[in-house]
Amino acid sequence: MKTSPPPKPPVVAGADKTPELIVHNASLVLTCAGKGPRRGREMEELSVVPDGAVAVYSGTIQAVGPVADIMQMGGAPTTLLDARGGIVMPGMLDAHTHPVYGGNRADEFLKRLAGAGYEEIHAAGGGIQATVDATRMMRVADLVEGARNRLWSMFFAGVTTFEAKSGYALSLAGEMAILQAVRELDAEGPWDLVPTFLGAHALPREYADDCAGYVDLVCKEMIPKVAALELAEFCDVYCERGAFTVEESRRILLAGQAHGLVPKVHADEFSASGGTRLGVELGARSVDHLPHITDEEIELLAESRTAAVLLPATTFFLFGDRYAPGRKLVDAGAVVALASDHNPGSSNTLSIGRALELGVMRCGLTVREALTAVTVNAAYAVGREHLVGSLEPGKQADLLILNVKTPEELIYAWGVNHVVAVIKRGRLVDRRRQPDETRPKKQRFSDLFH
Ligand code: NIG
Ligand code: FE
Repeated sequence: MKTSPPPKPPVVAGADKTPELIVHNASLVLTCAGKGPRRGREMEELSVVPDGAVAVYSGTIQAVGPVADIMQMGGAPTTLLDARGGIVMPGMLDAHTHPVYGGNRADEFLKRLAGAGYEEIHAAGGGIQATVDATRMMRVADLVEGARNRLWSMFFAGVTTFEAKSGYALSLAGEMAILQAVRELDAEGPWDLVPTFLGAHALPREYADDCAGYVDLVCKEMIPKVAALELAEFCDVYCERGAFTVEESRRILLAGQAHGLVPKVHADEFSASGGTRLGVELGARSVDHLPHITDEEIELLAESRTAAVLLPATTFFLFGDRYAPGRKLVDAGAVVALASDHNPGSSNTLSIGRALELGVMRCGLTVREALTAVTVNAAYAVGREHLVGSLEPGKQADLLILNVKTPEELIYAWGVNHVVAVIKRGRLVDRRRQPDETRPKKQRFSDLFH
């Protein structure tokens, strides 16, 4: 096991105060501290403190180090949490999710089990369009309720920060409603949500013969409104055969950039779509999916500041045999992250664990690289690298206790949720808490658009 010297004494607000919480008795603290985002061989470095402890004050990490040092920090902390010899690591980030939608696509899953293809179903007017039909029927409050249950499951699987996309209404009012739901969910839950506008997820039925008209609607009406109401930080587009071309995607992402929305691209999922090249050209924060990325684009990406977000749970759920070339991307020097892509059609899992496992067992990442891919690198992919993704003095106290003693056991014992405690902003979140017992809402936006 590679270990790192204990971090230097903290220089943060509250550093001289008695900690409010100390998490102790960890066999290892994976701090993931240090240079980020990580590329190439740096991705193996988890900055481990053996026999470590973490001190928290006012929702912020005060210090991380050997347990003997931390326990001497003076005064008795309000709470002592025993990690019972398990691993302590940063709360994970899920850098690509579509959690707000109506209905489900179990019928489509059965069709796919019987041999129908995902793209074929989409081309015949099902797929994303089926979820759009169900979502358009829902009020903001109903969208919030459905997504809330999903977020709780994902949270207790170890995700403390989520990127959350719109894209299942494809109308001005409907896309605003989804982003309002994201805003409400962010305000009420223990988690943090990072909102992404994905108006260009599919061509809605009523624009079937007028793609240019829909792109106009996205660029001239939706994006200005999303930006004016500060409902999103990122603008994403599904750049793929059967969805939006490179030219259409460029127009949309440039319109987003002109309004302060940072680009992201769904790229190279079923074909070499040109999406990665476009993402790099526009300085996108990430390009996501990538099973069909070309070698030339791998080089482009490696030389850029754009992260590669791999979504292997999607390839698995679509019975694909071509996974994103994670090994090649890491070796080339790209910033690689892993995410669940949770959505009702192509990746109906609520577990970041499945993405970690497949990242290792199908994309060729090592266990440690995969952990970097859901912490520091995922934080970078959603623009939260200054706040979360590592356990360092001054960062938000988002951490997990796992009931394993080595990182490798996390994947070796696959299909298991190893997370025994989730601490968000320094507070232990009670697993027995019912979904309707979320803390009081800070704000209410429900039904503004209905
Ligand atoms: O990331 N590829 C486009 N969007 C989603 C799928 C959405 C759906 O099937 O509902 C994805 O895989
Ligand atoms: Fe997606």
